[in-house]
Amino acid sequence: MTLVRGHRICFCGGMLPPLSHIETLAVHAGMDGLTEAGVHVPSIDLSTTNPLNGVEPGGESYENLATGGTPEPGDSAVYQRLWQPGVARFENALSTLERAEGTVAFATGMAALTATLIATVTAGKPHIVALRPLYGGTDHVLASGLLGTTVTWSDLAGVTAAIRANTGLVILETPANPTLELTDIRAVVDAAGAIPVLVDNTFATPVLQRPLESGATLVLHSATKFLGGHGDAMGGTVSGPDEWMVRLRQVRALTGGLLTPFNAYLLHRGLRTLPVRVRAQQATAAEVASRLKGHPALERVLYPGLPGQDPQGLIGRQCSGAGSLLALDLGGYAAAVRFTEALRLITHAVSLGGIDSLVQHPASLTHRPVAAEARPSAGIVRLSIGLEHVDDLMDDILTALLVARMPVGANANYTAPARSV
Ligand SMILES: Cc1ncc(COP(=O)(O)O)c(C=O)c1O
Repeated sequence: MTLVRGHRICFCGGMLPPLSHIETLAVHAGMDGLTEAGVHVPSIDLSTTNPLNGVEPGGESYENLATGGTPEPGDSAVYQRLWQPGVARFENALSTLERAEGTVAFATGMAALTATLIATVTAGKPHIVALRPLYGGTDHVLASGLLGTTVTWSDLAGVTAAIRANTGLVILETPANPTLELTDIRAVVDAAGAIPVLVDNTFATPVLQRPLESGATLVLHSATKFLGGHGDAMGGTVSGPDEWMVRLRQVRALTGGLLTPFNAYLLHRGLRTLPVRVRAQQATAAEVASRLKGHPALERVLYPGLPGQDPQGLIGRQCSGAGSLLALDLGGYAAAVRFTEALRLITHAVSLGGIDSLVQHPASLTHRPVAAEARPSAGIVRLSIGLEHVDDLMDDILTALLVARMPVGANANYTAPARSV
């Protein structure tokens, strides 16, 4: 720990005993030094620049931070793009939850992915093996080659064969977006051999799954989702070993995709209630999935917690639960559109993981840029279940399913019930 402008800052991920329960860690991680500073919650330091400790020491601090180092005790933080105390607090807290050596936080999840790809390309390993399905933006940036990467799409069985001499990373998402399929992280790590594996853990969060414990090298989050949890702050993170964190801090310092101090505050505050939110949302999602299973308007309810949808038995082994995302297959585009547009309590909006339930139609929205052969079926809608009461959510969903079942044109004059909140 060191004193930076009156705040004691923890530079390591694990200030609290590693065996503490995640509820306790979530509340207290990254909060060290507050008593000494005479405050109860971290202050938001908005300084874009920081006084230097002299010309030569200032220059040395600049060089250290611009090449991915962190400040030594007594060093100046120099400039917000290079290092920021509130961002470091959030990073330390997330490292504690993910059991990572370190975390680097970015402006968005896509900035976090971009930085990782840049680090991979500049290490001379531009080839990526990616397991579909992935978030549409991730698929898009890989398919476009925008950052100088090349990609081989694969499934678990094809990973070893897909690896080349210049492969820098294997990327996967589990549960996957939007089909909620689970992938065995340990099996991918074994298949990847020496190649680092990055797991996008946005859907599961460290409450349900800690990919580093399954052998992954890097864990990515769109912190915009569950970590913040209230739909009011964007952010992205990559957690993993120190040598990667140094490279990622350098990319962040030089490309400028940094998390702002205010968003770092909000995301850190979000972490404190993460276990409670994730478990409550998961319980409601499980109930919604089981009540909807077999509904005549639905071809399938995709939720890994339903019987038969976790054939490898990964729940309980790799993750502790199925999460709070589910997908409904209404059998075709027209029914999916009618259902989505008839919902009243559940907001039709992109994103997920917040306290209010959202619905979106992946094939026409988040997965629109994905190649046709890999795009989710047009009948699928994705629900992110929030903290509302399950009966209110079911009322909304069942009413919208009635609309979805109407023959095309039959609902032209239908007036959906008024929003009940
Ligand atoms: C699984 C997943 N990964 C990454 C991202 C990108 O994150 P952001 O929107 O914060 O850039 C998203 C966004 O929806 C996502 O769902």
